[in-house]
Amino acid sequence: MSANNASEWTTAVEEAARLITDGEVVALPTETVYGLAADASSEQATRRIFEIKNRPPTNPLIVHVDGVEMAQGLVAEWPESARLLAQHFWPGPLTMALPKNQRIPDSVTAHGNTVALRAPGHPLMREVIRVSERPIAAPSANLSGELSPTRAEHVTERLGGRIRLVVDAGPCRFGIESTVIDLSGERPTLLRPGHIHEQAIFEATGIQIVPRPTVAEGPAKSPGLETRHYSPEATLHNWKWDSEDELGRLLDEHEINAPDTYVIAHRVVPIKARKTHYIVFPDDAEAYARALYDQLHQLDRIGARHIVVEALADGPEWNGLRDRLSRASRGKEPAS
Ligand code: TXA
Ligand code: MG
Repeated sequence: MSANNASEWTTAVEEAARLITDGEVVALPTETVYGLAADASSEQATRRIFEIKNRPPTNPLIVHVDGVEMAQGLVAEWPESARLLAQHFWPGPLTMALPKNQRIPDSVTAHGNTVALRAPGHPLMREVIRVSERPIAAPSANLSGELSPTRAEHVTERLGGRIRLVVDAGPCRFGIESTVIDLSGERPTLLRPGHIHEQAIFEATGIQIVPRPTVAEGPAKSPGLETRHYSPEATLHNWKWDSEDELGRLLDEHEINAPDTYVIAHRVVPIKARKTHYIVFPDDAEAYARALYDQLHQLDRIGARHIVVEALADGPEWNGLRDRLSRASRGKEPAS
């Protein structure tokens, strides 16, 4: 169902809110990626999300709220750090994990004692929360381990047969998943980098976010971060090259200098004719993120075997993208 003009929009909001209130699962746009949405207060509805995505029950869901008041109703405490972060970054692509209260069923939090909360910035998603008068649990609307959808057709292609409604409100503005911060421990900890990075948070709030401990240092805090994730079907390589000739040598060495190899470059852009295909990306983190997943979905669709991505710059605005690309390039072992 498309929501590209005022009357379609109203119908889509009403239909989505009705289905969610009835305990169904629907796909909705957010400003980051499309989400698979259900009533967060319903054990049964949220279990359906796990079934549809084939998601391990150990991986908790993000709960979407319409603002601070609804968020406060779901947590055991609302620390000063949460107040500040919400004030500066909500609505928007920032998720905070906080000690939960009894209102959120264990299925949502994977039996953990925290709940991850986010007030999305997308007007349609906000309106569905408001009309349905309840928090909405929504992971990215993809099969577990696969690429997140940034367009409605990405959802329809992979999950269309399993859900009653996909609301199409066009491509997502940010194109990568929200930043996730754990506020339940002694120090605010980054669980998943995203568009809102540590430096921006420090500048706005004075809060210092510490990197999450490596796997060796402690148990998995955010299961989505420990396994292969965000992966296209093709094998993805992250390489750095300083000249076009160097890229040529790398392709030859890896024996993938062939027509089913696609090179995504944004700085040292090749111009010589080769057997591989070249795709030129913007040298701007926000524009890059907006285009990336759609490009990877397209390459999967045309049967690309190898995707070579030019290494990203060091700046904090690239942190989220660097994280997703390194995860996508890991081996093909199944996500746990
Ligand atoms: O941008 C987004 O965050 C999108 C849109 C739909 O809001 N959602 C999304 O959800 O990316 P999902 O489920 O694909 O990723 C959520 C991540 C997972 O890595 C999960 O492990 C982590 O957040 N997470 C969820 N609840 C958590 C909790 N209570 N504590 C720690 N991590 C949690
Ligand atoms: Mg996901």
